[in-house]
Amino acid sequence: MTDEPESPAVRIDRYVGQYAERAKGMVASEIRALFAVAARPEIVSLAGGTPYVAALPLDAVGSMVGDLVAGQGTQALQYCTAQGDAGLRERICEIMSLEHIQAHPDDVVVTVGSQQALDLLARIFIDPGDVIIAEAPSYVGALGAFAAYQADVVHVQMDDDGLIPEALEQAITAVAASGRRAKFVYTVPNYHNPAGVTLVENRRHRILEICQRAGLLVVEDNPYGLLGFDGDPIRALRADDHEGVVYLGTFSKTFAAGVRVGWAVAPPGIRDKLILAAESAVLCHSSFSQLTVREYLATQPWREQIKDFRELYRERRDATLDALTRLMPPGCSWTRPAGGFYVWLRLPEGIDSKAMLPMAISARVAYVPGTGFYADGSGGQFARLCYAFPEPSRIREGIRRLASVVESEIELRQDFAPGR
Ligand SMILES: Cc1ncc(COP(=O)(O)O)c(C=O)c1O
Repeated sequence: MTDEPESPAVRIDRYVGQYAERAKGMVASEIRALFAVAARPEIVSLAGGTPYVAALPLDAVGSMVGDLVAGQGTQALQYCTAQGDAGLRERICEIMSLEHIQAHPDDVVVTVGSQQALDLLARIFIDPGDVIIAEAPSYVGALGAFAAYQADVVHVQMDDDGLIPEALEQAITAVAASGRRAKFVYTVPNYHNPAGVTLVENRRHRILEICQRAGLLVVEDNPYGLLGFDGDPIRALRADDHEGVVYLGTFSKTFAAGVRVGWAVAPPGIRDKLILAAESAVLCHSSFSQLTVREYLATQPWREQIKDFRELYRERRDATLDALTRLMPPGCSWTRPAGGFYVWLRLPEGIDSKAMLPMAISARVAYVPGTGFYADGSGGQFARLCYAFPEPSRIREGIRRLASVVESEIELRQDFAPGR
């Protein structure tokens, strides 16, 4: 042995042959790989789906947390049940009633963000090779959770009105014809991540009908439902089907992502399995986080705070759409979100967003290539732009930089076009 540091070759993982099969599906997401670079101050990051927590009344939240520990520390610093704090579950039911969901606190399981709910659902439903039907594109964290349990994701087309019912029907038929089992349909109906579109009302009934007929569970993942820019919250799928829909919610976008509190509301059989799975994963969730959220809902003007978030994100959405319209070269198109955090940008034919990313980073702008949102790695013609975090002036500057990168790519392509 010498004292010399090991070379990277020696540091290659020596346990590589010993991992379970399912660990092969665990790969770093496009987004995680980007975070380190995109966090540099000179880069305008339109990449990570980072909420703007600086808009919270941090002093008030700080003293609320202090009071929580001083006044209820023996509960906040103790274990609790795997299903989650009963008082918080009651408040969660009140929040869901804004989307016309009638749920009892017993139906709710508190989770570590909705990401853990996705993991627990995958854990209780997916055997290797089982099919999960999901939108094309789909939330990268859900694809990661499904891949970790060796699911085979079948994507279904969307358009500006959300998931296309006929395409869903065809996919269900094709999966059945291939002799495989689809375990559930995973959908983000409101202000989709990454596509920015919302499922229109007349398709909602149709989609429920199709899934009911096929005996297929729907997983409705709705982190952005209260962040619509116009009108009241949209009626949830779960509001019209208690038995066929598992609904996932989170406080990450309406309060604070750092508290890591989300929830699932599910039919009793699934709820019981989720509780058992949560117990084996973490015994119970953080009492401290749960009570922080409970106190926040009880003592702070959370409805006004959501209004403030909506206004803030609307202004940033407007800045994004305005800059795209003024600056993007012909051949690009994009979605126009009515809420949430994301615009889905389509690049001119032949331009690959993944290959273009290093150029964009050198031009000091970051986005997420579309490939991260497809289980088969397609989607290279798309990029996800998240407008939630940068100030409007930074967004405009970021899109100016991005537009010039796309222009250079177009020129480059023309220079090297075959037949010139
Ligand atoms: C569609 C969707 N589902 C789930 C999550 C996970 O959120 P969290 O675990 O913070 O609740 C996100 C986060 O961006 C998301 O966009």
